Parts: sequence; C-alpha cells; structure tokens
Amino acid sequence: MKLKAIVSASILFFVSPSIGTAQEATGCASGTRCLKVTKDGKVDAAGTFVAQCSGRFPDFIAPQARINGWAGERFRLSQNYPPADAGTDAPWRTIDFRTPEGADAYVLALRDYAYEGMIEADFRPEASAGRRWYHMPMMNFGSGSREFVHGLTEERPVTGPELGLKSGVRIRDFAVGFYNAAAATTIARVWAADDPSLVNTAFPPGSMSFKVLFSTAQAADFADGIDRLAGAPTWQIYENGQTIDVRLMQMDVAAAAPDTQTGWVFGTLAYDASAADTSTWRRMRPVGLSWGNDVGVKPSEIAAGTKKLQETIVSSLAPAFAAQHLGWAGRMNGPVDNPVSGCLSCHGTSQSPRAPLIPMNSCTTEDQKLFWFRNVPGSVAFGQVDQSTCQPSSSGNPMAALDYSLQMAVAVQNVLQFREVNPCAGADPMRTRLLRVWKGDFAVDDQIPPESDRIQR
Ligand code: HEC
Repeated sequence: MKLKAIVSASILFFVSPSIGTAQEATGCASGTRCLKVTKDGKVDAAGTFVAQCSGRFPDFIAPQARINGWAGERFRLSQNYPPADAGTDAPWRTIDFRTPEGADAYVLALRDYAYEGMIEADFRPEASAGRRWYHMPMMNFGSGSREFVHGLTEERPVTGPELGLKSGVRIRDFAVGFYNAAAATTIARVWAADDPSLVNTAFPPGSMSFKVLFSTAQAADFADGIDRLAGAPTWQIYENGQTIDVRLMQMDVAAAAPDTQTGWVFGTLAYDASAADTSTWRRMRPVGLSWGNDVGVKPSEIAAGTKKLQETIVSSLAPAFAAQHLGWAGRMNGPVDNPVSGCLSCHGTSQSPRAPLIPMNSCTTEDQKLFWFRNVPGSVAFGQVDQSTCQPSSSGNPMAALDYSLQMAVAVQNVLQFREVNPCAGADPMRTRLLRVWKGDFAVDDQIPPESDRIQR
C-alpha cells in the first residue's frame, strides 16, 4: 500500500511536467512561450499569472486578468547581454561636467546618445537600427513589477501639494530603464546563471543607463490648472480592461565617472511644455546633475547661507516645476523623486541584502540623516542601520555592494530575499533553493521578508 503510493507519486512527478497544454496561458506575443505561473514565477497549471518567455528571462509576469482583452504590442526584455565591450562608445566622457555649461552639455550628450535610433523605435530595443540597449532581468515581482506593454515599473506616486498638484491629488508614475553595452556586460556577469553572482558587480568605464519616466498627471491635477506636460510624448498602459494614458515627465541618466569619489554622475531632465522642438522627445531639458553627496552639508547651513553645494549643479534651463522640486538641501533630484533624498544618496544604498533607501523615521536629526549622504565608492557596501536607534550596525550578514544600481538591487532582492524564480529557464525551484542554501545565500529557516520590505522608489 505504502509502496504503491510512493510509486504512483513518483510517476506523477515525472509525468506531470510534460502534460504541456495545461500550463499554457494566453495573451502573449506570437512566437513566444506563454506559461501559467504563480505570482512568484513557479510554473503551475493552476497559476493565475502569465509569463511570456522570448529568451532566458521572462519578458513579463502579469496576472492573466490584467492582460485579457489587450490586442496591442507586448514588451520584450532585451537580454542578449554582451560578454565584453570596449567601453569606447561614450562621447560624453570628454565633457567637463563640473561647470554650469559643461553640466548642460553632459546631460544633453547623454540624452541624445539615448535617443539615437530609439525615438523612431519607440524605445523598443528590438526595433532600433542603432546601438544595442538592454534591460535588467527579473524585475517581475511585487506590486510595482514590469507591466506587459512597455516593461514599465511603477515608481513613487506623488501626492499634492507636492509638485504643485492640488492638495490630496495623487498621480501614478511609471518608468523603464535601459543599459548600454558596456553596462550590460555587468548584467551578463551577475546573471550568468539563474542565481545572481555578486562577486564582481562593478560597472566598467563607458557604462551608462537611462530611464524614461511617465506620469498619469493631467492639467486638472495641478493647483493652477496649468498643464506641465502639454504636448508630451504619450504611451498607453493597460490594466484590467482599461487603457491608461501616461505622459513623459522625467528622464534620468547615470554615467560611470571613474574620476569621482562615487564613481558616478547622475543627471536628470524634465519636460518643458514651453519648448518648441518639433520632436516632442527633444523638449526634455536638463534639470542638472551631481557627482557627489556634498558630505556633511546640512539643510540648516544652506538655509543660513553658510555653505553652498559643490557637487550638484542645477541647470539654468530647468523647467520651473522641476527646479522647485530638488532633494535634501537642494541636492540633485527629479520631479517624482523623494525630496528627503537625492539621486546619489538613494542610489548609494544599493546592496544585497537591501539597505534602507532613505533615512528611517527614527533618524530625526540632520546629523543622523548625514549617514545617507556619504560618498561611498560603488565597490563598498552602504551598510546596515538599526531601525529603532538609527545607529549604523553590523547585522552579521555579509553585504555585497551593487555599484549604485537600484534596478540590480531590486532584481537580486527578488531572487535572493523573496526567492522568486525564473519560469522561462525551466529551473526546478526546489533544487534552486537547496543550491542557494548550500551556497550560503540564505539559511533553510530564513524567513521571506514582508512585502513592505521590497525596494521601492
Ligand atoms: C529615494 C530613492 C531614489 C532616488 C532619490 C532616485 N532614484 Fe533612481 N532609482 C531608484 C530605484 C528604487 C530604482 C530601481 C527601480 C526601478 O527602476 O523601477 C531606480 C532606478 C534608476 C535608474 C535605472 C538604473 C539602475 O540601475 O538603477 C536610473 C538611471 C536612475 N534611477 C537615476 C536616478 C537619477 C538620475 C535620480 C535623481 C534625479 C534618481 N535616480 C533618484 C530610487 C531612487
């Protein structure tokens, strides 16, 4: 009796993966595999999520109910990551970004580099005749995960009166990031196997990434009724039978800069509704850039006029709504970014296991907050901070620096902390899990963190 049960169970085990059609979902692009999966990416005939596989990593994993009825294009993850790149296709590198004119030229050079061939391709790398662009894999889990039309992830919502919005009005924001070939060599190395390798996570010279950010904001959402995004490029996303228009508001750029303490220059652009460029994409104007955190400089000192920022340059071309929405003590930040931080202070927290992106509520004094505004090199982990005392702590877990990439941090966290799996690779989740325990990524009895622990902007 007992033996029979074991035998039939094992027959079932070996037979079930080939039952095939039971696991096929609907709603994917033609020529791709369309799998029924759980929200964690496990292939499961009873799963209510759909994974589209056109390569080794999923293009998207979305609830079946959300995509039903959509007949338009579907996102494809650009994932033929190059093993090597000379890093010489980087025209901005000869520009001195430390002067106001240089800063504008630098940000515009990065913008135009990102635009070449991509405007015509509507930012679908597979349709671009120009240079190759790549996406971060495994950003497919949790509430803000990649949607299926453009691969946008949901970003920080903004609630009025912030950004000039009517008090209490909340806008949603969505973005998709791209990496050039030099940067994609790091993705190739970290994601050579289903399990990320965190041995060498550095982005080489010549690396850059950019992110285009869209918002649901409409003219009527602003307190003065003036539409900051009049005429802006518009994309559609689709949720549960509803098409939602989102308009371009912000564009972020990040470029490896070996001659700085952080190793990076982060810059941003905002849509200027008064610009007359015929290509609406080219109405994006520099807001500015920063290459360091201005270590030690506090808001009280800026307010008193006793100190000035030396490592942030705000552009004279910045549209007013963006120039009025900078980061802590005026450090570089974008229109939808959290004003308690800045580009570099938030991105400097990129590590595995994750660190708090912004000062926690227990960090009330300016001196405590300064812990986030250090010029940490990309190869050094940010560290851990005690939730209740706001004191730097050593948690005992080894921490791996992720060189200022928060998309990398999201992807790595999904796999190592939330134990989400890649359905496209056909990996056996149980085997993968055992391997990770064996490698020491986590202990058998480690808890999966609560949803609130996911890295969010
Ligand atoms: C409070 C935190 C925070 C601030 C401030 C912030 N970011 Fe990010 N950023 C994130 C997170 C989280 C992600 C990854 C999630 C995603 O893209 O969906 C990200 C992703 C990016 C990416 C994609 C590349 C990568 O690997 O992370 C770029 C480029 C970027 N941000 C640039 C900027 C720039 C430029 C600024 C300032 C104008 C900025 N960010 C401000 C949190 C922040």
